Amino acid sequence: MMDRNRQDMLAALAWQCEAGADEAIGEMPVDRYAVAADARTLADAGTTAEAKVPAPAPAAARPRPQAAPRIESPDETAREARTLADAADSLEALRAAVDEFDGCALKETATNLVFSDGTPEGRVMFVGEAPGGDEDRQGKPFVGVSGQLLDKMVSCIGLDRETGFYITNILFWRPPGNRNPTPMEIAVCRPFVERHIELVKPEVLVCVGGTAAKTLLDKTDGITKLRGRWFDYRTPGMAARDEPAIPAMTLFHPAYLLRTPGQKRLAWRDLLALKAKLDD
Ligand code: URA
Repeated sequence: MMDRNRQDMLAALAWQCEAGADEAIGEMPVDRYAVAADARTLADAGTTAEAKVPAPAPAAARPRPQAAPRIESPDETAREARTLADAADSLEALRAAVDEFDGCALKETATNLVFSDGTPEGRVMFVGEAPGGDEDRQGKPFVGVSGQLLDKMVSCIGLDRETGFYITNILFWRPPGNRNPTPMEIAVCRPFVERHIELVKPEVLVCVGGTAAKTLLDKTDGITKLRGRWFDYRTPGMAARDEPAIPAMTLFHPAYLLRTPGQKRLAWRDLLALKAKLDD
């Protein structure tokens, strides 16, 4: 039988994961109970904790410094992202620009940049929401259970990552605990996503899930209203250059289909519509 202490610790860990605290952010663990006990001892000795706090360790011995807080406004950060994105003239250059960009705080907590997978020569480009835990560990989009379902679904209409499609997300880093992306995170990543689409120039763009659909198609409707319809997609750059629009559609997110398998029927209908567009 597992000893009681270990059982309690595992239960506490599971509770933290469920609450979304599933990433170690500092380099060194901090024993908060010991810190609190030290403070109590100092208080009992008639002095304040602050007065007896030891001098900070020399810089070299201190844990990794946190990035300096950015002082730009969200608009300025998005403008900086736009300048960097527009200067990228290839997918490699765009990936390097995203990697160097410090304007999205998610980069601090993520393990890896999740840029793309699949083939840019493919006819279809899928854009999902944000990397999850598996994607964060492997640095590739849609490699966890929902990605496996998406692969299976699109293989039924003859598409695979090696030859048929390219895939990315609205965010390039995992939100801690898989929380929803914030409007600020979406706004600062958006110029890179738009440049990504301009560089890939897919024949058809597929928004995977409500967040991608609302962001790219500039809609406030929910996914159930948006799915099953075709839209014309143009980035601001494409509109300025008077380039033709890309046909775009929306699919239910595979994570939603895993929770709500009854909706697979509609997803299948949407996949057939995608196939018909490609066969046109
Ligand atoms: N969900 C997404 O939207 N993107 C991924 O990469 C994985 C899961």
